[in-house]
Amino acid sequence: MKSKTSTNTALFRENELRKAINTDYLGRGLIEIHEEIGSTNQRAKELGLAGAEEGTLILAEYQSAGRGRLGRTWHSPPGLNIYMSLVLRPDLPPARAPLLTLTAGLAGSEAIGRVIGQQPQVKWPNDLILQDRKIAGILSEMEVQDSSVRFVVLGVGINVNPAEDDFPPELRDQAGSLRIATGRTWDRNLVLAAFLSELEKYYKLLCQGQWDEVLNTYRRVCQTIGSRVRFDRKGTLIEGMAMDLDHTRAVLVKQDKDGRIVAITTGDVSLLRRENK
Ligand code: BTN
Repeated sequence: MKSKTSTNTALFRENELRKAINTDYLGRGLIEIHEEIGSTNQRAKELGLAGAEEGTLILAEYQSAGRGRLGRTWHSPPGLNIYMSLVLRPDLPPARAPLLTLTAGLAGSEAIGRVIGQQPQVKWPNDLILQDRKIAGILSEMEVQDSSVRFVVLGVGINVNPAEDDFPPELRDQAGSLRIATGRTWDRNLVLAAFLSELEKYYKLLCQGQWDEVLNTYRRVCQTIGSRVRFDRKGTLIEGMAMDLDHTRAVLVKQDKDGRIVAITTGDVSLLRRENK
């Protein structure tokens, strides 16, 4: 159920948002702002299928069926956060397209660091972690046709202004927000604009084939690499040392049980203990 919140900040307004955005093309064309929607990713997919141009931006104040990774739901209370989806039409081979997901995590980390002065780390592949709590998540969904990428919907949820009691009890010890981390509220327009500009910077590099540059920068903000980890891969637990990423975005884990290196492309990771990086 949608509930009113006492900490509502100003609602998104297209003219204010357009003033804040300083990109070349992301968020420069069509912007849709919904007071309420099922999922911005779903709407962006509809628009993508109908031919929406690169950079089309869908935003919502509230999602009644926000989608998370691995089939989960995304808690989407009204008026407090950023729920956004972009339609991207990257000139990338499908095998490289998953790098977009890492790129978005990196961009989110740098943008938030720039705005609030505390830089979140990225938990592979793209959860943003600040003060040990998840403050943002990214869900990218790819539409492939004749083995090329037709478009990608990049969905981003950033917890901006909720206080601890705006989260349901079961999320309170793991979910955070920019407000919880800093003790003050933030202008969502500025956070969103900063995200779009960081994303565009790295997206351009990616589309120019400079994946190593993007991956190397990602490695620096990724808390998973160089840590002891446990992966839950569809119910099978893999424990070991996360050594590095490969060129497709998989994490290479040296397993404790036999020292073999396995490439993990999906699943949930938890850190067992931090090693010096
Ligand atoms: C995750 O599980 O970490 C990914 C969460 C992604 C949530 C965002 S909110 C905007 C967009 N629309 C959705 O339905 N999901 C994404």
